[in-house]
Amino acid sequence: MRLALFNPQIPQNVGACIRLSACFDVALHIIEPVGFSFDDRSMKRAALDYGPLSHMTRYADWDAFQAARGPGRLVLFTTKGATPLDGFVFEPGDTLLFGSETAGAPEPVHAAADARVVIPIRPGARSMNLSVSAGIGLFEGLRQTGGLTRC
Ligand SMILES: C[S@@+](CC[C@H](N)C(=O)[O-])C[C@H]1O[C@@H](n2cnc3c(N)ncnc32)[C@H](O)[C@@H]1O
Repeated sequence: MRLALFNPQIPQNVGACIRLSACFDVALHIIEPVGFSFDDRSMKRAALDYGPLSHMTRYADWDAFQAARGPGRLVLFTTKGATPLDGFVFEPGDTLLFGSETAGAPEPVHAAADARVVIPIRPGARSMNLSVSAGIGLFEGLRQTGGLTRC
């Protein structure tokens, strides 16, 4: 299972996802452009010293990511998702893809997804924080597929 972020804009969210990928031992894919510098101090602060434990790969754009990502389903997390997370069945080879904090994911990304999943939230609430939703989705995917690491 892999975690992918489409055009993330907020360095602290990427830092939190670096830490997430390190703690869950999953690869992290960043689809550029991003809204910050990878030297950003707040990103490094959110990642703490987990950077070396995270396997992060950067792609210049969506096409580069698509060309390189290999087999396995693309599971897009979106507030416009068709399937609620608690009813979705994950596969070990899934890539869990999350949209940008500002615009979500554009139509070509929706069209390329093999599945679209929504985390149920209360009526009237627009969306969750990117890194929080990534943590929830990744935990559920790993739980279902036996991918959680144990201390
Ligand atoms: C802050 S949200 C983006 C909000 C954006 N304005 C939109 O309309 O999509 C950032 C990303 O977190 C994920 N996300 C946030 N809340 C979610 C939810 N309830 N279900 C599924 N994904 C969610 C999605 O991948 C989303 O693109």
